Amino acid sequence: MIIPEGENTMPDFPAADWSSLVDLLAVQGHAVLPAALPAASWIALQAEARQLLGQGAFAPARIGRGDSLHRESSVRGDGLCWLEPGLAAGSAYLRWMEGLRLALNRELFLGLDEFEAHYAHYPVGAFYRRHVDRHRDSNARVISSVFYLNAHWREEEGGELLMQDEAGEVLFAQPPRGGTLVLFKSADMPHEVLPATRERWSIAGWFRTRS
Ligand code: OGA
Ligand code: MN
Repeated sequence: MIIPEGENTMPDFPAADWSSLVDLLAVQGHAVLPAALPAASWIALQAEARQLLGQGAFAPARIGRGDSLHRESSVRGDGLCWLEPGLAAGSAYLRWMEGLRLALNRELFLGLDEFEAHYAHYPVGAFYRRHVDRHRDSNARVISSVFYLNAHWREEEGGELLMQDEAGEVLFAQPPRGGTLVLFKSADMPHEVLPATRERWSIAGWFRTRS
């Protein structure tokens, strides 16, 4: 990679074993990959997110879309900051997920056109009630991803991602451990984020088709 002088760049993150993960996603509709990146990579992402929060770059999360977009703290209490190419660690993350987008298209013929993602910060006690990621009036979101940025997370600190099937049966409860990547189908998997006794950092992202 050529690094232009003075640009806000970071070397590429090492590619994960995308094809095993994609196989698992195809079979189960969801997949979890612990240690998807070395600690140095996700610690750099967490550091960038903290810096952005300090600069006031995070906005309270809203729910809905277009005209129905509104703030709803009884539904979700996280703050978010969208990743864009000007961010050093954030853009390395976008390039890393580009490798996964290509693997998803190559192996599952999903025809995914783009990936969007934001840093998410859940203050102590914040939660995100049961929801489905695909918006009611758009089928653009096909695959959801969540990547966790928290060092030394302990089970008793809570903050699990609770994943359900269409019938509402709990499939798994994933603690937000740094380096763990979770993928699931955006359309038909309800899930929620439980409150934690500690602040909680993650990157939520969606592979989309142009609708
Ligand atoms: C979301 C979401 C899960 C998590 O942002 O839509 O469900 O574990 N996040 O942070
Ligand atoms: Mn979600």
